[in-house]
Amino acid sequence: MTPVITIDGPSGSGKGTISQLVAERLGWHLLDSGAIYRVLGLAADRAGITAQQPAELAALARSLELSFQGGRVLLGDEDVSQLIRTETAGNAASKVAALPQVRTALLDWQRAYAKVPGLVADGRDMGTVVFPDAAVKIFLTASAQERALRRYKQLKGKGLDANLARLVAEIQERDDRDQNRSVAPLKAPAAALEIESTSLSIEEVLKRVLERVYKTYPGLAVPAT
Ligand code: C5P
Repeated sequence: MTPVITIDGPSGSGKGTISQLVAERLGWHLLDSGAIYRVLGLAADRAGITAQQPAELAALARSLELSFQGGRVLLGDEDVSQLIRTETAGNAASKVAALPQVRTALLDWQRAYAKVPGLVADGRDMGTVVFPDAAVKIFLTASAQERALRRYKQLKGKGLDANLARLVAEIQERDDRDQNRSVAPLKAPAAALEIESTSLSIEEVLKRVLERVYKTYPGLAVPAT
């Protein structure tokens, strides 16, 4: 069976960055499952399909022309990497992601990313639903205030407008929707290594994750750093 590492957690917990670093370090594939829901939210918006039309959304999910190329996310031929990273796109994603029909439509597709030599899967339900047999499960958290602050700095760093109070409110709203939906709610998988990253650096989080990985797979060659 292909080894899978799942990294779940709320928005802004740093799981995207950590997943990418772990995948690079091991030379494994990376699945950014949030990007799938974000692209679906965008495609639905363009097609005029709302969250009140679950059957249409599930059909759209099944025919979604999404591909990952290097670090880019493509919808058909269009590079939507930047477009899907806004707070609006995140909120649209979390609305379509709350629908059971949509999640079912995307299950096999996500599982097909588990290919040799291994997969790092980043999301909300990677360890609980999509890859329940994964040998390494990580659950990354941080306070809503800290996550909003990280996002604020990221936006300001890009020269974009940002309002910290609004970001905190948006993060809390999205957490609330992700944690309380009826299907695949955001929660720590059983036996997951939980890392509270509010006061940890990326390097410290990465170190803890890799320690767990090498403990679980002692045969993995530790690449030179
Ligand atoms: O991780 P990211 O912020 O890109 O995810 C965007 C939204 O997609 C989340 O707020 C969540 O509602 C949804 N999502 C999900 N299941 C996943 C990944 C993301 O429901 N595995």
